[in-house]
Amino acid sequence: MKANSLLIKQRYDRIAPYFEGLEAVMEGLFFKHKRQQLWAKVDGYHILEVGVGTGKNFAYYPDNARMTAVDFSPAMLKQAEQKKARKQVNVDLNLMDIESLCFADNSFDTVIGTFVFCSVPLPMRGLKELYRVCKPGGQVLLLEHVLSARPVLARLMHWLNPLVVKLVGANINRKTVRNVKACGFVWVRINEGSGDIFKLIEARK
Ligand SMILES: C[S@@+](CC[C@H](N)C(=O)[O-])C[C@H]1O[C@@H](n2cnc3c(N)ncnc32)[C@H](O)[C@@H]1O
Repeated sequence: MKANSLLIKQRYDRIAPYFEGLEAVMEGLFFKHKRQQLWAKVDGYHILEVGVGTGKNFAYYPDNARMTAVDFSPAMLKQAEQKKARKQVNVDLNLMDIESLCFADNSFDTVIGTFVFCSVPLPMRGLKELYRVCKPGGQVLLLEHVLSARPVLARLMHWLNPLVVKLVGANINRKTVRNVKACGFVWVRINEGSGDIFKLIEARK
């Protein structure tokens, strides 16, 4: 594993036991609603969740789907395993890097991730993997925070980024909408209710 990947993975391993506590206020006020909006768009039978983390999205998994999920942080995945057992969630959890997914081409009807591409070390490589494993006609759904379009705020985000990466492993200056558009999808739609920083992204293969 490359040094940068190792660093990000170690950050998530370190914060895994506190992750849900750290995000609790934002989750209740804001993220919960956005997750509901995103998961309402899931369709098809075989669904892949990338960067599953501690399993915060388990509550939104559709009943009649075959769920597969991956994360590269053993400690985050351990939290997800415990939640899976506690809540009796039907999901196949895998320790796997998004940048080199061990799934065949065209495997999934929907590939979904929330707040993941802020931290994937090589985001274009990861997004191309999502495209590869998505079936033709299938969809990739992402909820991501991105660099602001407002110049002053964007400058501040660039300036603060190294500190945030060092602390929690997430970049706050990613251009994920542009990156998804560069992957070859038939169309990419950004949910109209998305604000300046939080984006609901739908991409159809
Ligand atoms: C900010 S957390 C989000 C977790 C979860 N999706 C959520 O909404 O709470 C980002 C997650 O992505 C995982 N991650 C980042 N880069 C990854 C990669 N290249 N492969 C697999 N997982 C990755 C991290 O380990 C972490 O669990």
